[in-house]
Amino acid sequence: MTANIPGLVFQLQQRADKSLHVLYSSRSLSTLCGECTNADDTAWTGCINNFHPEDRAGFFATMEASAQRLTHWNWEGRITAPACNTKWINLRAMPSVMADGSTIWDGIILNITRSKQRENESLHARELLEKLSGHIQHAREDERTKIAREIHDELGGILTTLKMDLGWLGKRIAHDPALLERTQAMTQLIMEALHTARRIAADLRPAALDNLGLTAAMEEHAAKLLGRRGITYRLTPPEQEFDLDDLHATAIFRIFQESLTNIVRHAAATAVEILLTRSPHGLGVTIRDDGSGITPHRAPSSPSYGILGMQERAKRLGGDLSISSMPGRGTTVCLHIPVASAGNALP
Ligand SMILES: Nc1ncnc2c1ncn2[C@@H]1O[C@H](COP(=O)(O)OP(=O)(O)O)[C@@H](O)[C@H]1O
Ligand SMILES: [Mg+2]
Repeated sequence: MTANIPGLVFQLQQRADKSLHVLYSSRSLSTLCGECTNADDTAWTGCINNFHPEDRAGFFATMEASAQRLTHWNWEGRITAPACNTKWINLRAMPSVMADGSTIWDGIILNITRSKQRENESLHARELLEKLSGHIQHAREDERTKIAREIHDELGGILTTLKMDLGWLGKRIAHDPALLERTQAMTQLIMEALHTARRIAADLRPAALDNLGLTAAMEEHAAKLLGRRGITYRLTPPEQEFDLDDLHATAIFRIFQESLTNIVRHAAATAVEILLTRSPHGLGVTIRDDGSGITPHRAPSSPSYGILGMQERAKRLGGDLSISSMPGRGTTVCLHIPVASAGNALP
């Protein structure tokens, strides 16, 4: 039966003098270690010599740990026999102690090269996807900043000039009530256009983020989003203003923005608590609402990228984001960004 198993079943003994002896092996070790090894069926030394140098220490360390604690021995490593392709193997065994003080493992070795390759490929693909998503976020942020400035400065400038010109014109046609009324209506429209342009620019990128810093931008956004909807909120600023580079400030602001949008959209909250903290370990943002909490069952047909995006941004700064929630008892979003990556300002 063991000969038919697509793996190698073995019994390995470690004697009191620490020497290793194969008591049983369902097939020749060379089937796993490759023809090129000089392993025979009773000594593993040839096989162990073919283990990848980086994995060899782990083999002995996991074996010793298993012998000492009498726990499951689970080890993965590479075999790099000369003239053979690198092979990944997984060894799993259970130890028992014999009367003579030796330890005997009954176990199995499987060739896991294919699944390891797939694992590496998917890891690689994941890394690429993360990089791509980071690049897209960055490009998007750049674009938003550029468009916001153009709208604010260029369009805002043109509209302001138009308004002034209309004022000048109004003074010269003051004798004609019909014309005057028309210019006043035009001025009103220009004011509305100016207001819209400013709103669009601010939505694209809050000017406070560039001019006044992260905390002020957060205050402004909370007032706009929560305050105007009658949701009471309290924002406790850090003892000292976060002094962050643009990349960090923007990412933290976007995470904050998405959290507040979620509260407004989903939570039906009446009060929100925002706490900004700074410690020697980094900086923290906690956003707590007293709303409905996140219900675990959501329609799979509606993919949502808000929380995913928040987590990705946090990860890219080397930080982490956790969300805890109880149905009916609100939601808490905790963001932590470590010192090392928290810009140039933290001590
Ligand atoms: N503060 C919150 N209170 C209640 N539910 C929330 C809160 N934040 C998120 N959720 C729930 O989690 C889901 C996922 O959020 P998100 O990823 O931002 O996607 P979206 O906002 O586009 O639905 C939301 O659809 C909502 O059901
Ligand atoms: Mg959302």
